[in-house]
Amino acid sequence: MIPKRIEDAFNEQIRHELESAYLYLAMAAYFDNGGFPGMGRWMRAQVQEELTHAMRFYKHIIERGGEVRLQPLNILAHKWDSPLKAFEAAYEHEKFITGKIHELVKLAQSEGDYASNSLLQWFVDEQVEEEESTLTVAQQLRLIGGDGRGLLMIDRELGQRTFVLPPELANLYAQGTGIAG
Ligand code: FEO
Repeated sequence: MIPKRIEDAFNEQIRHELESAYLYLAMAAYFDNGGFPGMGRWMRAQVQEELTHAMRFYKHIIERGGEVRLQPLNILAHKWDSPLKAFEAAYEHEKFITGKIHELVKLAQSEGDYASNSLLQWFVDEQVEEEESTLTVAQQLRLIGGDGRGLLMIDRELGQRTFVLPPELANLYAQGTGIAG
């Protein structure tokens, strides 16, 4: 059985992950509307990633006999001054999420909840990648400044990104929830 405090905190984290998806969907729309289809595609893949993050917590709560309670989502932002500003905001947001994951690790350890701690270790590693991927693009955009040709090249490169559903979550998206089997 999942401890009540962890269940509450994981429900809160589902909200943070879904708000991340919402934020990146807003960024995708900003790029797609602004003539940067590659960056739009990159962000749309990121939306899918965030949904799987939420679903990892969802799955864990249900598997341990807890209750998933969805909360209203906030719109964190919907407009940016440039692609650089958007990716800088994405990097700042990922640092915020890393802080939330670290708080959860402390809570799981103080509660002696080894199963949740194990789940969270995956997120600790994932957040290193999440910060790195947004920071790298922000750094590249900073380097090229306002150079149009450079922007188009980055846009083309980011448009190569594809989303791959992690195999351990595949049955959540097939028929039924897959949670019981
Ligand atoms: Fe779910 Fe981008 O952290």
